[in-house]
Amino acid sequence: MKKIHSRLMAAFCLAGMLTANADAAQAPIPQLVRQDGRYALLVDGQPFTMLGVQAHNSSNYPAALDKVWGAAKDAHANTVEIPVAWEQLEPVEGKFDFSYVDTLVAQARQNKMRLVLLWFGTWKNTGPQYTPEWVKFNNQRFPRMVDKDGKTIYCLSPFGEQTLQADTRAFVALMEHLKKIDSAQRTVIMVQVENEVGTYGTVRDFGAKAQAAFKQPVPQAVLARKKAPVAGAAIGSWAEVYGPYADEYFHAYSVASYIETLAKAGRAVYDLPMFVNNALRDPVEPMAPWKGNFASGGPTFDVIDIYKAAAPHVDIAAPDLYSPESKKLGATLALFQRQDNALFVPEMGNAALYARYVYQILGRGAIGVSPFGIDYADYSNYPLGSRLKDKAMAEPFGKVYAAFRPMAGKWAQWSLAGRTYGIAEADDRQPQSFTAAGWKVTATFREWQFGNASKDDLPPGTESPNGGAALAQIGDNEFVVVGQNVRLNFEGAGANAGKPSMYARVEEGRFDAAGKWIMERNWNGDQTDWGINLTANPTVLRIRLGTY
Ligand code: DGJ
Repeated sequence: MKKIHSRLMAAFCLAGMLTANADAAQAPIPQLVRQDGRYALLVDGQPFTMLGVQAHNSSNYPAALDKVWGAAKDAHANTVEIPVAWEQLEPVEGKFDFSYVDTLVAQARQNKMRLVLLWFGTWKNTGPQYTPEWVKFNNQRFPRMVDKDGKTIYCLSPFGEQTLQADTRAFVALMEHLKKIDSAQRTVIMVQVENEVGTYGTVRDFGAKAQAAFKQPVPQAVLARKKAPVAGAAIGSWAEVYGPYADEYFHAYSVASYIETLAKAGRAVYDLPMFVNNALRDPVEPMAPWKGNFASGGPTFDVIDIYKAAAPHVDIAAPDLYSPESKKLGATLALFQRQDNALFVPEMGNAALYARYVYQILGRGAIGVSPFGIDYADYSNYPLGSRLKDKAMAEPFGKVYAAFRPMAGKWAQWSLAGRTYGIAEADDRQPQSFTAAGWKVTATFREWQFGNASKDDLPPGTESPNGGAALAQIGDNEFVVVGQNVRLNFEGAGANAGKPSMYARVEEGRFDAAGKWIMERNWNGDQTDWGINLTANPTVLRIRLGTY
């Protein structure tokens, strides 16, 4: 991960110094850059907003891919996240089969999609179901964890030396292969290492090796980053320093260190950005030691510091959003967006009510977002996600992505510069506002376009929350706005506080491929008399205001 300076940004904005032509020779390798605590993913050397979709778990075979591309296209996605399973890459120990990866990458190119590969190795939703059979059933070589009572449990131990060696070898083989087939085109832009790691049902491994390690002093790198929630010793064993949190923290460190071995070795051969995803712990309940209510040892918000200390080759700890309550979802985003952690949402429910969160997520500066199961495989993961399996499932996301897509690169630049804002209608349907430089923007919901709604006369299609807006401030008095089912009002704030204002222009339009704004019409009269009213059809506006 590189720090980037404003001068460099200016250079690629102005001079086009970084080529956009991915076909000429070798495209620059994707990388994550940081500027003043904000992030951008560079793809082909340019800031890139990932409008992603994730395929179903078992779509990682050539025969399943058509249904993946079909859904991704209907969603207007620019990236597909899809598994590569250890069991398919190395079905026989030491013999690697890259045929699926080759087909996948070739078809992604034909379909003009980028890829994020999800390495389903030692842990997939904490379990070993994607390991090859020669790993699954050999507890001698590939030990499972042991619980407090000495019982062997389902989850593979992070202290299994041969497991780590074997998983690392397979992962490195994948990265070597990607380097060989993809260095020219960079179709693959990021890699997820393992999937939703941690352990359900037991707080940590109590096997002999784990027990010995638990008694060791907490490493300095962890001490430097992770403060104890309750007062304990400044240095010493895990129990001495972290008291009732020691078990969870130790497990997080053990799992993160294991992942670091893969990530470091993989990046040594092919240096793509890497991340881990997380089955969340409740972001709003008071902090308490693990009590069985989430996967211990996964990169939950409370142990991001431990992951940063143990796994410097993992760029991002990323939340998987499956709790649609607006308060919880917002709290999770705030906890994962940190100066040292780019916001990236690799999974989110695919039910329609999640589509509005794309505005909030991209507005607050995420490098990308990806609803899960946007795939026409004959499978619905309802009730977690949508009941639907067809175009109607992809459509709510497709409409939002279609609006963002022509300006996705620009959006990533604005976001890196800290100029973007995002709102999603809350469950309580109440107004929301934020202050940009010189302007306060207020969003209200369930309004008619030409007049105020009353409780008994509400606009159709607003029965459940589905409004949202994302804004980029592109000048002192100028905004690019994209949104749906929302009314926006602007009033002077800061330097403009107290001054009356009016719209100079409210242009509806789009950015063309060269990044030039194409005005289609100017909203005025009835269309702006009641504020900026965006309907169920996501619309892009370029708004200029003035004071008098
Ligand atoms: C989160 C996991 O990371 C995904 O692979 C998938 O299992 C979803 N949960 C549920 O559909």
